[in-house]
Amino acid sequence: MTALTLSTSSAASLRADAIVIGVAKGEKGPIVASGAEDVDKAFDGKLAAVLETLGASGGEGEVTKLPAPSGFKAPVVLAVGLGENPGKGENFDAETLRRAAGAAARALSGSAKGAFALPVTDAADAAAVAEGALLGAYTFTAYRTDGGKKKAADDKSAPLAEVALLGTKPRDKAFKAAAERATALAAEVNRARDLVNTPSNDLTPASFAAAAQSAAKEHGLKVEVLDEKALTKGGYGGLIGVGKGSENPPRLVKLSYTHPKAKQHLAFVGKGITYDSGGISLKPAGHNETMKCDMSGAAAVLGAVVAASRLGLKVNVTGWLALAENMPSGSATRPGDVLRMYSGKTVEVLNTDAEGRLVLADALTRACEEKPDAIVDVATLTGAMVVALGNRTFAVMANTDAFRDTVHETALEAGEQCWPMPMPKELRKSMDSPVADMANIGERAGGGLVAGLFLKEFIGEGIDWAHLDIAGPAFHESAPFGYTPKGGTGSGLRTLVRLAERAAGGGLA
Ligand code: BES
Ligand code: MN
Ligand code: ZN
Repeated sequence: MTALTLSTSSAASLRADAIVIGVAKGEKGPIVASGAEDVDKAFDGKLAAVLETLGASGGEGEVTKLPAPSGFKAPVVLAVGLGENPGKGENFDAETLRRAAGAAARALSGSAKGAFALPVTDAADAAAVAEGALLGAYTFTAYRTDGGKKKAADDKSAPLAEVALLGTKPRDKAFKAAAERATALAAEVNRARDLVNTPSNDLTPASFAAAAQSAAKEHGLKVEVLDEKALTKGGYGGLIGVGKGSENPPRLVKLSYTHPKAKQHLAFVGKGITYDSGGISLKPAGHNETMKCDMSGAAAVLGAVVAASRLGLKVNVTGWLALAENMPSGSATRPGDVLRMYSGKTVEVLNTDAEGRLVLADALTRACEEKPDAIVDVATLTGAMVVALGNRTFAVMANTDAFRDTVHETALEAGEQCWPMPMPKELRKSMDSPVADMANIGERAGGGLVAGLFLKEFIGEGIDWAHLDIAGPAFHESAPFGYTPKGGTGSGLRTLVRLAERAAGGGLA
């Protein structure tokens, strides 16, 4: 991954491929943001006018390259748009900095070093720039036979190798902590993205479990893997029922991070369908091309537990990865079959494409047995939620309004777009089944809420639970923006880590 350094060097004296500066949108044209004073001085204070001549407006994400002034060690100045200039005495918010840094890092892919001279007033700003740059630099080139050396039209060349943050204090505790947190967080988001982008012929439940085992070993987590034999013996009817049509059998992975001074215990549960064909209720062409992304929830959970460990948070975190491949075959679950779930409840599977809730149900029941203070599941659960909230916002639902609000607020704090959705109890009866305790589908209207109500049936009394439906933002199909690349995004992960941080600080009621 991209390396991060804190630097007190001047923009002129640092050896780099480009100096990154910020430009905001002013009423009368572009405004050079603070942090770039040295550069502006070298342009005789006329940098804004030069940028305007080049067509720069300061609009969000806009990238303008110009030759660096003579005497600079770097050959290029890269001006990145920050959008509207904040009011007098106000600073750019964290997400604006993250996105601008991300866009700049993306524009520098293939380069060795970028020196970021963006408007950083404190360690929190530095954290935002660092996070944005490290996330924006991400590229996925594992399947490129040239390793991404050739810059392709879709930007997928090798990532920017080094990010230097100018105007920061390398020996200051707060700045050092900010850099360490950004590095760990970005590494884990990028791990999640790699897993999501890995095609399903290489990422199976077994290979995902093996990847979790090696990450756990590297970062001092305890890990247990239940294979198909153990799952059958243990009565995990949901996981077995979904996985039994595939040549690649299911797994349930438990990851544990514990801290001796922990006061709270969080459980994270991730949907890990390594490929969702729909099963016997097969998805039509046009709906299955991106379904390698259906394990994004599990990838977010893995990364979040590892991040909690890397950051040494004073909290216990258990991660559950519910891994299966949903395929049609002679051994697959049929529409109309009844599964006996790990909880003991029976479920009539009326649509084998509503598989995520089945694997999650078993993992949620199992997670509840340990009586954590709170459970959060993350899942690419419903197309209905994509219709409702679009491609950039995930939904949060919960069994109490208070916990839903806590998770919502936490997501925004982490820089993830999130919106609360209700759990209307009248929808529950649409899942009544004539033969089993319930069916796996109900009313089509409000399909995302019905899915949430299904999961709620598997949550034990008195445990706070929230459900994140990340079906929209998990996989980004259109042009990259800010620090969000094409493909896997790592959606949900930063929210989980922020929740763990809050819990470590005693902030979860
Ligand atoms: N994995 C899909 C949901 C999905 C859709 C994720 C689009 C990402 C992008 C899920 O398993 C699914 O197929 N859900 C069905 C449920 C329906 C059969 C009740 C859906 O949303 O159509
Ligand atoms: Mn499905
Ligand atoms: Zn699915």
